[in-house]
Amino acid sequence: MDKISIRGGTPISGTIEISGAKNAALPLMAASLLTDEPLLLTNIPKLSDIASMTELLSQLGVSVTLDAPRNMKLDAKKIASTTAPYDIVRKMRASVLVLGPLVARAGEAHVSLPGGCAIGTRPIDFHLKGLEAMGADILLEDGYVHVKAPKGLTGTTFTFPTISVTGTENLLMAAALAKGQTRLVNAAREPEVVDLANCLNAMGAKISGIGTDTLVIEGVDRLHGTTHHVISDRIEAGTYAMAAAITGGTVLLKGAHLSLIPIVAALLTRAGVTIEEKEEGLLVTGSPNRLEGVDVMTEPFPGFATDLQAQWMALMSLATGASLITETIFENRFMHVPELCRMGANIVIHGSSALVRGVPQLKGAPVMATDLRASVSLVLAGLAAEGTTVISRVYHLDRGYEELDEKLRACGAHIERLK
Ligand code: EPU
Repeated sequence: MDKISIRGGTPISGTIEISGAKNAALPLMAASLLTDEPLLLTNIPKLSDIASMTELLSQLGVSVTLDAPRNMKLDAKKIASTTAPYDIVRKMRASVLVLGPLVARAGEAHVSLPGGCAIGTRPIDFHLKGLEAMGADILLEDGYVHVKAPKGLTGTTFTFPTISVTGTENLLMAAALAKGQTRLVNAAREPEVVDLANCLNAMGAKISGIGTDTLVIEGVDRLHGTTHHVISDRIEAGTYAMAAAITGGTVLLKGAHLSLIPIVAALLTRAGVTIEEKEEGLLVTGSPNRLEGVDVMTEPFPGFATDLQAQWMALMSLATGASLITETIFENRFMHVPELCRMGANIVIHGSSALVRGVPQLKGAPVMATDLRASVSLVLAGLAAEGTTVISRVYHLDRGYEELDEKLRACGAHIERLK
């Protein structure tokens, strides 16, 4: 299994091109199931999660081809299977995104229940309750959820008990082909949901309220193909902004937009980082002094993303004073804490909060990645630490960061992949 070795202490400097957003690309790929015409997606990132979704869609009968390295053509002329098997779902929870489109187009779906994961239990009950409210029958058997709506789905009003990103995406896709009007209340407002809604409208869907917490969908009989450009990855942009910040370097994040990371940018600025909007993207400059501790609470968009919480914690480990980091989205997303502590960080967990008392220096150590964002927080810590950090289980990183080692190496980081 690959490892990543980092010799820390060098400020990173240069340009990093931000890739297309993983969490936008995955639902957009699933949306190809909604039409018998080809969907062309441009700006697709090269990631193992994208490969997993490609494998799943291929099994369902979708022909997936790359016209160019980042241009993916998905053609679901015929649905060959309506089953998302355990083998793929357990590798990637986002596989559940085929549920809504399959039921809407084929009248049924059989999807393995994803089970828990490194960051929490992560049930899919809202996805199922929403489909049930639209007239589907749901049966749980053999670890699979079997959803049937042979006569099609019917529009309804569904209120999410708490905000769910993929839950909103699944029901949005299902509602696009349902009979009549669907109202999704307390819907997610994440830019990835907006991107999906815009693509669905380009495919002939009738969605209004895009970007608000109430989505109104007038169902249509059929959708058609289109070409859609995937938005840039705000989590990747936030991560590299923090890489510049933690090493005291300067990086131009090409293709990054302030509107996608408003709170992160504001909090980085408060901590002492300079962020300037340029024509090509965002120019991030670390502080010549130690950063200041700033408290953070994760929240649905436009709040501070849970997917940047671990990275923020690495940053705050080296700040002056203390920072209170509260995780409100997932119940178990502090797996990086013991690893950061092995590198000399001073962090105590109290329930859903972590109190980070900044230390002047971290020290390199062998550490273990537990999930995608936890792994990258260890990369950030390694970039700033004295000595060498070796991170094992880096397959987590390859799920969501395109060419991370190459991108950082091009900015002067001493980072190597050990095969
Ligand atoms: N929840 C339920 N029932 C449901 C759905 C969600 O209780 O039916 C709970 C979850 O357990 C969690 C909260 O609601 O406590 C929010 O979860 P959400 O459904 O929004 O998460 P998700 O859709 O499974 C997406 C991203 C995650 C990201 C979260 C939160 C994708 C493919 N995944 O997950 O991304 O952390 O939204 O923003 O879009 C990552 O990229 O590293 C990642 C984990």
